[in-house]
This record gives sequence, C-alpha cells and structure tokens, in this order.
Amino acid sequence: MTRAVIRGTGHYLPERVVPNAEFEAKVETSDEWIRSRTGIEQRHFAAPGQTTSDLAIRAAQAALDDAGMTAAEIEAIIVATSTPDFTFPSVATMVQAGLGSTAGFAFDVQAVCAGFVFALAQANALIVSGQAARVLVIGAETFSRIMDWNDRTTCVLFGDGAGAVVLEAQPGAGTPADRGILAADLNSDGRHRELLYVDGGVSSTGTAGVLKMQGNAVFKHAVQKLAETAHRALDKAGLTPADVDWIVPHQANLRIITATADRMGVPMERVVVTVQTHGNTSAASIPLALSVGRQRGQIKAGDLVVTEAIGGGLAWGSVVLRW
Ligand code: COA
Repeated sequence: MTRAVIRGTGHYLPERVVPNAEFEAKVETSDEWIRSRTGIEQRHFAAPGQTTSDLAIRAAQAALDDAGMTAAEIEAIIVATSTPDFTFPSVATMVQAGLGSTAGFAFDVQAVCAGFVFALAQANALIVSGQAARVLVIGAETFSRIMDWNDRTTCVLFGDGAGAVVLEAQPGAGTPADRGILAADLNSDGRHRELLYVDGGVSSTGTAGVLKMQGNAVFKHAVQKLAETAHRALDKAGLTPADVDWIVPHQANLRIITATADRMGVPMERVVVTVQTHGNTSAASIPLALSVGRQRGQIKAGDLVVTEAIGGGLAWGSVVLRW
C-alpha cells in the first residue's frame, strides 16, 4: 500500500519577539500570571505589512530545502490558516506563486487550531488515493491581527509564525511498522461555537473581527477531547500509548499539554514543547513544533509521533505517523 511519508520540515518565526513584560503596560496582567497559568514566556509578532503568506512561503522554502526538493516537484499545496491575507484567493495559491511554481493545485483548510491536523489528514488522503505524490502542508498564522488588545484573557496567549512539512508517497507493507501516516481521527461539534470565535467576518459584519474565548470552558474540553482523539487514532493504527516516542501537541497552554500527556500515560520527556517561546500560533503550532523538535534532535527516523489539536468550532483531531 501507499504511505504518506514526511520528507522534510521547516519553519519561520517573525523577527519581533514580544516578552510577557510588554503586556504589563497595556493590560492588568503580569509575567508571573502568564507563565504560571499558560507556560508562555514570549511570542513572535509579524511586522507591519508582513502577511500570513509571507510567513508561509519562508516556512515552505525551508521544508523544501530540508527535503532536497524544488517547488516544481510539489503536486499539491495545502495551507491551514484562519488568518489569510485576503478573503480570497487562498493563501495556498499565493504560496504556490511565491515559490515560483505553476505545478499542481493549491487550497486552504480552515479548522482553526486543529487546522494542521485536518490538513495533514487531507494530504494523506490525496497521497493514498493517488491524486498527488508530493504534498506540501503548511500551517501559517498572524493571530496578532485578530486580537482585542484590551482583553487580558486572550491577548497574552497568541503569537504569529509558520511551519511546513513535505510529504511523499512511498510504498508500505500496511503494518504499524511502516514509515508515514498510519492513522487520523478528526472530529467537530458546531454546538460549541460560542466558546471560541471571531466576532467579525465577510458575510456578517464585513470586518475581520477580534477573537473571543471562554478560556476555562475550552480548557476543560481540550483536556478531555485531546486524550480521547489521540487514543482513537492510536487504536486505528493498531498501536498503544506505550508505542509513542513523541507527542507533538498543539501548543496552547502548558497545563493542557501536561494534562493530556498524563491522561495518555506518556511522560513529559516524550513531549515536544515550544509554547514557552512561541505562544499559541493556532494552525502553525504543530508544524512549528515538528520542525523545532527535529532541529533539537528530539524526533528521529523511525520514531512514532502523535500530533493532537483542538480549536474553534469546536474542531479537534489527531494524526499518528512514523517518522
Ligand atoms: N492576567 C491576569 N489575570 C488574568 C488574565 C491575565 N492575562 N487572564 C485572566 N485573568 C484572570 C481572570 O479574569 C480571572 O479573574 P477572576 O477570578 O477575578 O474572574 C482569573 O484570572 C482566572 O481566570 P480563568 O479563566 O479561570 O483562568 P484559567 O486558569 O482558566 O486560565 C486560560 C485562563 C485562558 C489561560 C486558560 O483557561 C486556558 O488556557 N484555556 C484554554 C485556552 C486555549 O487553549 N485556547 C485555544 C484553544 S486552541
């Protein structure tokens, strides 16, 4: 059978680093509160005029370089984002042009913080069904553009950035020992829309809007649903948490990451954590963590990796893959 194997990773973070202390002057908060409640110490913010596609193109080029491929060899580009440059065209087509390619097709996926997991599952479907042999999957966000800077419960949490992976079709034996994506588990429940949303949009207000969140309620959903979806994906792959080398979770809050690992019975030494320096970069957080985890020497060939994420919708899911 055909497997979608990760051939390269890359990421890009905007130059401007914003430490927690910067928020103390704007809202009633403290570095101590942000660190102890979220684990976040700093985040990156895009420069004025720097857009989501700019970040995505930098991350994509880094992933192509890592894979030793050119953009012309890529047959599909999927960008997961909730903060596109424009209402349309898609960020993915802008990335295609930015990479100087006219090959294949490109489109965006919007599942908020779960976007990269959803995009990875779509890339896998394209590869396994034979529609594309090499797919570039990017998570890219500029959440700093949809913050309410007077709302201390949200503005301290998010950051900007992009991460990318290159997937390639390779033959597998159809066993859990194969390299590549082994299983995916995707879920959504639109009844929880009011827990996490942006209060503007094209066909409602005609504005971009700002992010609104009931953090405490989202926290409770996250802790329960993330462990459940990871267990289901592992089960579909014929594996158990004892087989896991690395959890690469969505980086929203260190307490959620720790609680999920705990529920899965996986020690924190086997979890890639970047939330301290990146904050919550929504759909970019997992590909950023995959790329940084590779650079740190944490993830190696043959390792079993579980990614899991939840976000607005609610939408949540997990992908199990062997590096
Ligand atoms: N600085 C200081 N105090 C703050 C604050 C800040 N930045 N943000 C909130 N507070 C206050 C609240 O106003 C509240 O005060 P009150 O008790 O006087 O009302 C108090 O801290 C506790 O708020 P609460 O929301 O219960 O805190 P929490 O422990 O749940 O932590 C979050 C808040 C947002 C960090 C946490 O709920 C969270 O991480 N939720 C999930 C967020 C998430 O992952 N979202 C994205 C999913 S993709």
